[in-house]
Amino acid sequence: MIILITGCSGFIGSHLCEKILTSHIANNHSLHKQCFVVDVVIHLASSAGVRYSIENPGLYIRNNVNKYVKLIQGCKSFEINSLLYASSSSVYGLNEDYPFSEDAILNNLNSPYAITKKCMEDFSSMYSRLYNMQIIGMRFFTEYGPRGRPDMAPYKFLKAIRDTIQLYGDPEHTIRDFTYIDDIIDEISKLLERRNKLPQCDVFNFGSGNPIQLNRFLNICEENVGKQAKT
Ligand SMILES: NC(=O)c1ccc[n+]([C@@H]2O[C@H](COP(=O)([O-])OP(=O)(O)OC[C@H]3O[C@@H](n4cnc5c(N)ncnc54)[C@H](O)[C@@H]3O)[C@@H](O)[C@H]2O)c1
Repeated sequence: MIILITGCSGFIGSHLCEKILTSHIANNHSLHKQCFVVDVVIHLASSAGVRYSIENPGLYIRNNVNKYVKLIQGCKSFEINSLLYASSSSVYGLNEDYPFSEDAILNNLNSPYAITKKCMEDFSSMYSRLYNMQIIGMRFFTEYGPRGRPDMAPYKFLKAIRDTIQLYGDPEHTIRDFTYIDDIIDEISKLLERRNKLPQCDVFNFGSGNPIQLNRFLNICEENVGKQAKT
């Protein structure tokens, strides 16, 4: 199977490439095969991060929505009929109906980033019908692990505690679903294997399903740094 991955130097993309290349080498498949034929595209390239999108909405619209539409049109031109793309748990916005269901109505979006991901989902279902393509969305929750993005909660919290920087927010009332990167990569691999049995257009939650209160998360960070957080 020939797979084209966008965003391969990013956090999730680099882990996915590592896994796919390792299994290719283990199975003695050639890595140098010349082709023009791609079986499936996995689209991970995006402007990520909620906070930065509030200050730079235009960048997110261009990078996440415009480029995604171009990619789908490119798939159509090159007759690539299978596309998996990264959406986000941010599409649940202010929804507090845990655990989040893929069938939830998404009318509580609270950042430009979330709106671009919802827009990607809407374009996906429209183009899937129009072009008769299989387009599957993966709603990632907060991933963590080696090479994680420095703007993500685990790294920001550890750094803030270490540098004795005040942490804001209400740790009592916020909960988060953290997912270890290896578990996500396993799930993407399973999705790839099963994709012929999946509907033409769908979206799946990619979370651990074990959300924890921010307070508990803060305690774990404090234990690891060996210091009390300034809240
Ligand atoms: N990491 C998470 O917890 C998380 C959670 C929810 C959703 N997601 C989504 O998963 C995907 C991957 O996230 P990540 O954490 O690996 O992010 P990342 O920022 O580490 O990786 C994204 C990569 O895409 C590249 N990129 C961005 N725009 C591009 C463009 N126009 N052309 C080519 N490359 C471009 C970036 O340079 C970067 O290398 C993103 O779509 C993100 O929105 C991630």
